[in-house]
Amino acid sequence: MEVVIVPDAKAGGELIAEAMAALVRRKPDALLGVATGSTPLPIYEALAAKVASGAVDASRARICQLDEYVGLPAGHPESYRSVVLREVVEPLGLDENSFMGPDGTAKDVQAACEAYDKALAAAGGVDLQLLGIGTDGHIGFNEPCSSLASRTRIKTLTEQTRVDNARFFDGDIEQVPHHVITQGIGTILEARHLVLLATGEGKADAVAATVEGPVAAVVPASALQLHPHATVVVDEAAASKLK
Ligand code: F6R
Repeated sequence: MEVVIVPDAKAGGELIAEAMAALVRRKPDALLGVATGSTPLPIYEALAAKVASGAVDASRARICQLDEYVGLPAGHPESYRSVVLREVVEPLGLDENSFMGPDGTAKDVQAACEAYDKALAAAGGVDLQLLGIGTDGHIGFNEPCSSLASRTRIKTLTEQTRVDNARFFDGDIEQVPHHVITQGIGTILEARHLVLLATGEGKADAVAATVEGPVAAVVPASALQLHPHATVVVDEAAASKLK
């Protein structure tokens, strides 16, 4: 695992966007796994700026989701499908066909999970997977004590994660779904390159446990230590508890 400390979130976004652009220059139809939430926004802004300036042609890139809420109606502005379309697919000038994600509206959620793992494999696997980290150390929505070998499946969000995400639902925790479909930790570890961005003091404990603690299901992000090519980019605040 390599750890890169940057001055701030903008610098982290720029660094990772450049790594993604370099990948797309090498492999124009790369499959890019994206995360949602606040942390990756500077990455998407920097990457969209590179596309707009002609620094990279991402027109053949493919995008896939890490996770999705279960039970939000199709087209709900906070479904991760809507979020990724708004924050990544449209700014990069891609069309919906270049984008895949788990179906959070499926009647048979288990079948939707299995179908998504199969679709990722059929697409040739994820070339670069972006990750954020929860204050409790989750990646995707693999909450603490998720199996390190887990596959895409339905999970129940912890109260802490629902509190953290209420800001996307008018601050009303009642509106935050209880369930999600998430790529499993085993699924995530199959991506060729994992890039985790963590910014802000609130992530400092989780980052220290991820990077310097033992590999343990209680800190799902610590599974990155098992990956042959994992990069953890942290700003100074998020790095503040590293030894
Ligand atoms: C979202 C996701 C989550 C977030 C994490 C951090 O797709 O997979 O693991 O990355 O909850 O969220 P933010 O960046 O909002 O602090």
